Amino acid sequence: MRQIIGGNWKMNGSTESGVLFINEMKALGSFDAPADIVFFPPFTLIPLLAELASDAGIETGGQNLFWFEKGAFTGEISPDMLKDAGSTWFIAGHSERRHVLGETDEIVRKKLEAGLKCGLKGILCVGELITEREADQTEMVVRRQIESALDGLGNVSPENFVIAYEPVWAIGTGLTATPEEAERVHSLIREWVSTIIGQEFADNLRIQYGGSVKPSNAVTILSKPSVNGALVGGASLNADSFMDIINSVP
Ligand code: PGA
Repeated sequence: MRQIIGGNWKMNGSTESGVLFINEMKALGSFDAPADIVFFPPFTLIPLLAELASDAGIETGGQNLFWFEKGAFTGEISPDMLKDAGSTWFIAGHSERRHVLGETDEIVRKKLEAGLKCGLKGILCVGELITEREADQTEMVVRRQIESALDGLGNVSPENFVIAYEPVWAIGTGLTATPEEAERVHSLIREWVSTIIGQEFADNLRIQYGGSVKPSNAVTILSKPSVNGALVGGASLNADSFMDIINSVP
């Protein structure tokens, strides 16, 4: 299965650095990359960069969205607006939204449903906190996040849906799960998804790993059979390191 590598810029970047990044990605061979590439810049840069990115073989997505089509929701962005701006993807349930902005499983579910219904492709992020990991609750937490997002979900296929397993303690910290740990949780996720949606879907589902992925650890992580890509934060801010990670896909 073709791997998928996401670059999540979070609240970073400017017009100048965004254009430079896409031009550098193109010069470094993004068009012939061994994986699908999706770029998640801040909302404000999407209209400017989506077409440029598409010319470099890169799809563009929103880091977040709101579940209503329109209305009195100051500061929010609807799925249609994301599409209109040039996005083909969105992220639901990133840990910074769950744990810094207080998004619940219920909110994540609404966002996922709304984005998929609108025809966007979605990445669902799941992952446990360090306290949950130390209390041996990783499986319980990740399973709950997956079930609440997927139970009875419509409009979903392996083409328009990806799960990113991102242990929260590994995000932006320099710590990473060992490739064996990542493989173990990814296999469990696939098993849970197969009971919720079905075996064929689960077999074809791409599951990304995220959390301090960088050029030095990408090869070992991306070589694991149940790891089908990566969601990259910090190391995606630089085109050289991001392309190094993409080129680590076996
Ligand atoms: P990081 O972020 O690569 O900087 O740890 C990953 C993410 O938040 O998706």
